[in-house]
Amino acid sequence: MTGSPSDNWGHWRRQLNPSDYDERWRRIEASGANPHGEADLAFSYGPRAVLDGGCGTGRVAIELARRGLDVVGTDLDPDMIGLARAKAPELTWVHADLSELDLPTRFDAVVLAGNVIPYVAHDRRHAAVVACARHLAPGGRLIAGFQLQEGWPSLADYDRWCESAGLALEARYATWDRDPFTNTDTYAVSVHRRL
Ligand SMILES: C[S@@+](CC[C@H](N)C(=O)[O-])C[C@H]1O[C@@H](n2cnc3c(N)ncnc32)[C@H](O)[C@@H]1O
Repeated sequence: MTGSPSDNWGHWRRQLNPSDYDERWRRIEASGANPHGEADLAFSYGPRAVLDGGCGTGRVAIELARRGLDVVGTDLDPDMIGLARAKAPELTWVHADLSELDLPTRFDAVVLAGNVIPYVAHDRRHAAVVACARHLAPGGRLIAGFQLQEGWPSLADYDRWCESAGLALEARYATWDRDPFTNTDTYAVSVHRRL
């Protein structure tokens, strides 16, 4: 279950290594800002089990586990998920391509934090959304935040992929703090629900 990284992700990785990525979040926390907006939003829905898709170095999964939830993190990049595993060896980390993910567990929420879908290879994004939907329990939520920019998936693309996977749009925000979304925003957090 290990496909190839996308060009977008390869470009990102040439600029930043996993430890530097973690350091960036530590600096945000040290500045007094809240680094857990994604975990806060997911937690607010009261899930018991959460899949952190494209978990990277595990920051969202680790925070949700700290709050008592059952979490699984999955990522295609061996170095990113390797760092997650090193930080929290007691949690479950699955090295896999999201578009091919096939776990026996069903989750109350799947979180895609930090531009995961745009970093999935172009021809695998729809399959990745379908796989996320497949891992949701009935009524479960797919919660995804990503930048809206030229050449990246549009919200119309994303909503279409979700709809084809049996998910209905429940809410859309401009930030993880639930600021209202407007058509001029360049970031969107979308909450889709499995029917
Ligand atoms: C910017 S990082 C975000 C990491 C983490 N979610 C966070 O917010 O800290 C995007 C992540 O998506 C992962 N990714 C990209 N394509 C993937 C795929 N096809 N399957 C699983 N993970 C993928 C990358 O390896 C990377 O760790």
